[in-house]
Amino acid sequence: ASTLGASAAEKGRYFGTAVAANHLGESPYVSTLNTEFNSVTPENEMKWDALEKSRNSFSYGPADQIVSHAQSRNMKVRGHTLVWHSQLPSWVGSLNATELRSAMNNHITQVMQHYRGKIHSWDVVNEAFQDGSSGARRSSPFQDKLGNGFIEEAFRTARAADPAAKLCYNDYNTDGQNAKSNAVYNMVKDFKQRGVPIDCVGFQSHFNSASPVPGDYQANLKRFADLGVDVQITELDIEGSGSSQADSYSRAVNACLAVTRCTGITVWGITDKYSWRASGTPLLFDGNYNKKPAYHSVLAAL
Ligand code: XIL
Repeated sequence: ASTLGASAAEKGRYFGTAVAANHLGESPYVSTLNTEFNSVTPENEMKWDALEKSRNSFSYGPADQIVSHAQSRNMKVRGHTLVWHSQLPSWVGSLNATELRSAMNNHITQVMQHYRGKIHSWDVVNEAFQDGSSGARRSSPFQDKLGNGFIEEAFRTARAADPAAKLCYNDYNTDGQNAKSNAVYNMVKDFKQRGVPIDCVGFQSHFNSASPVPGDYQANLKRFADLGVDVQITELDIEGSGSSQADSYSRAVNACLAVTRCTGITVWGITDKYSWRASGTPLLFDGNYNKKPAYHSVLAAL
């Protein structure tokens, strides 16, 4: 096939992108989106600070805009993200443990019920582990006040709120085998053994020269898949340019395609001009929506 989405679909996968609602009025942005991609992730619009800026007062405007665009085009939607230490309104951090537990469960329940039936996969918990060799959990209001059990509680609440959505744990620097991915692996293994509802693990996959596509990327995706969960590449971007960037992209795509339960790939934006990585050119289309060598290598790999 001649587009990313259609080629991925031939292999039983989706090919998605992060989308920002405020660019949906830009015609080359929308035409590239509609032509090339069959899944979207709201880049910021479903984060806690966007949806529930003050306690129990929800505003869904920009997120709804993305979801209805996707639905009208038959694209899947990845929900991102329910429980995360970042882009979290300050009121959440000032609650005591009892209030925080109920605010967390209320946030998950309200948001997932609002979108019930419309979200393919939800990042229920994002980035709960520390970088480095300790394998420890990251400090956050949730971790600090509720302890390790907050993750399990979030997943159980999520399953009840939208039983049809796949429930994912999502993180970065877990793409290869290392202390952090080992810690996530052990958590997922424990969840599967104890029947805690988890369906998928997302690997953000933000790569650059200091953190390149790992040699054991495929092996790492496979070991998670072997636990009985789907795996997804959720926020792929690779700094660089030209053929070396293109080679890295094809290695990432090939790693996913080699793992049966790797169900889809999402790049973290359409065009370099709107990438969150301000200093780089990490995406598949340049600032004028021209296809880069990386685009052609991804299409060829799919
Ligand atoms: C980023 C967005 O791309 C930026 O626009 C925003 O300012 C900060 O967040 N990991 C994640 C994403 O899970 O939500 C982050 O997105 C990038 C890192």
